Amino acid sequence: MIFNKIIKKIRELQKKSKNNNQVINDGLLQDKYLNELELSYLYSIFNLFQKVKNLPGHIVELGVGGGRNSILFGSLLKFTSQHSNSKYFGFDTFGNYTEKDFLENPTLNKNKLKWNNNSLEFVKNRIKKKGLDKICNFVEGDIRTTIDSFFNNNHSRFSKDSFHCKLIYVDTSAYTPAKIGIEKFYDKLVPGGIISIDQRKQGGETNALVDFCKEKSINLQTGDFFNDIPAYIIKK
Ligand SMILES: C[S@@+](CC[C@H](N)C(=O)[O-])C[C@H]1O[C@@H](n2cnc3c(N)ncnc32)[C@H](O)[C@@H]1O
Repeated sequence: MIFNKIIKKIRELQKKSKNNNQVINDGLLQDKYLNELELSYLYSIFNLFQKVKNLPGHIVELGVGGGRNSILFGSLLKFTSQHSNSKYFGFDTFGNYTEKDFLENPTLNKNKLKWNNNSLEFVKNRIKKKGLDKICNFVEGDIRTTIDSFFNNNHSRFSKDSFHCKLIYVDTSAYTPAKIGIEKFYDKLVPGGIISIDQRKQGGETNALVDFCKEKSINLQTGDFFNDIPAYIIKK
């Protein structure tokens, strides 16, 4: 009898404590929601999209992570009713940087597991829940090889000859996949189209774009407000 009363009391206390924590956590989440960095990032992406909005072609992202930008770009294509012609294509291993990338970019080792848990299944589910699964396409594997196989395997709408893009968003943080991706997709970029990098802390993808610009004698530009895109080029 006493035992049952004690159990009941413990359960009541557990419930109360859970509710309290919920309130506290929700409060913390509310405080964090749309903080300065998040808001400025959204503003930057919206502005970037605005610059290419009226061009034909798809949006390519190199380095999808958990699909944050897939949701942003996919939604922007949908909101502007371009989604039957313009799609989003995201390239990633969906299992972290490759061993080659860790070797080539030692700074990536500092936070080695950060991008480890974004499987293709997880990202696809996330995209489906947002109703963007007809807009967002994903290509899994090392960018060093997947871009070629993507073009070789697509014989109709997205074939090598008919694939054009208006925006190439580079967010691999690693040099070689960024450089290969920029080189391979540059030919597919329509005039006026943009290649932009995401990198806040300069490293792999910054170097890749800088080297590409040197080789092609292209002027590098930079965003003009707080937390705007650090570097981009516009194709002539
Ligand atoms: C900084 S995260 C991308 C973040 C994402 N764009 C976002 O908006 O949240 C970098 C991503 O690049 C991917 N990546 C890096 N090197 C790669 C490679 N060689 N091939 C394919 N994906 C690669 C990683 O798996 C990781 O998910």
